[in-house]
Amino acid sequence: MRTKYVTTKLSNGQKIYQVDHPFCTATISEFGGQLLSFQDQQGDEWLWLSKSAIKDGSKAIRGGVPICWPWFGPNVDKTLPQHGYARLVNWALVSVEEDEFGVQLTLQPDFVNSKYEIHNLSLFMKIDLGTSLSIQLHTENISNFSVSFSQAIHTYLAVDDINECSISGLNGCVYLDQLKNKISHQENDLVLNQWTDSIYSNVQSPITLANRGKTSKSIDGNGHDSVVIWNPWQDGARLLSDFDDLGYQNMICIEMANTGTTTLAPRQSHTLTQVISKITS
Ligand code: BG6
Repeated sequence: MRTKYVTTKLSNGQKIYQVDHPFCTATISEFGGQLLSFQDQQGDEWLWLSKSAIKDGSKAIRGGVPICWPWFGPNVDKTLPQHGYARLVNWALVSVEEDEFGVQLTLQPDFVNSKYEIHNLSLFMKIDLGTSLSIQLHTENISNFSVSFSQAIHTYLAVDDINECSISGLNGCVYLDQLKNKISHQENDLVLNQWTDSIYSNVQSPITLANRGKTSKSIDGNGHDSVVIWNPWQDGARLLSDFDDLGYQNMICIEMANTGTTTLAPRQSHTLTQVISKITS
């Protein structure tokens, strides 16, 4: 594949796709097809990656943009991995399109050479890297029957200090607090000060993450039925061996998701998109 801006390298024995473009630099792990870093032209890092992340392919990488697919959260069959298989298999780089404005990579998970088998759905992902960051997940039902799935683009955004952040765009939305198993109503801008794991429904407008010390970001989506907000805080982080103790201060997950059931008829497809941009005032 001829490309000016994308190279391949090895790190911890794992293949990494490295993007070096005048507008941005990015690293994408072959394992999980996972964006691990995205830095804009000013060298500002947009994604959080745990200092304790395990990157040898033995478990999902804690940080960046894991892909949850073909289910979000725990499976009804508890022997199957949380958040599905996509973040646990290698993704092939299928094509690269590039110009002076950015790079678009298309990646596809390789289930055939993995221990996970999926025969009824196919998936590919387009990642657009330039002055903004966009991820699209395309799912197609390749079987002769209706198939249901759920999914999330589980973006870990980097923040300077979670105590200085606020999130707007969720006001008026109903959310499920997964920790209390309670439905509530978002009244104001969201400010996090504790372990948070909430699924917001009917989010209409782009979300804004205001982050003192860094430029605000807009997080927009398409094809989603919900937006998940997650930060384990200190208590939750302690339960996760690959989450460094103080990491919760510098991250927030804002995930475009289909946490409910999406059902596709034979040959029907669905696209879930997340777009993150800097808000310049
Ligand atoms: C979030 C879920 O999307 O992901 C949380 O809402 C979960 O419940 C979190 O704890 C992290 O999941 P994992 O499997 O990467 O530890």
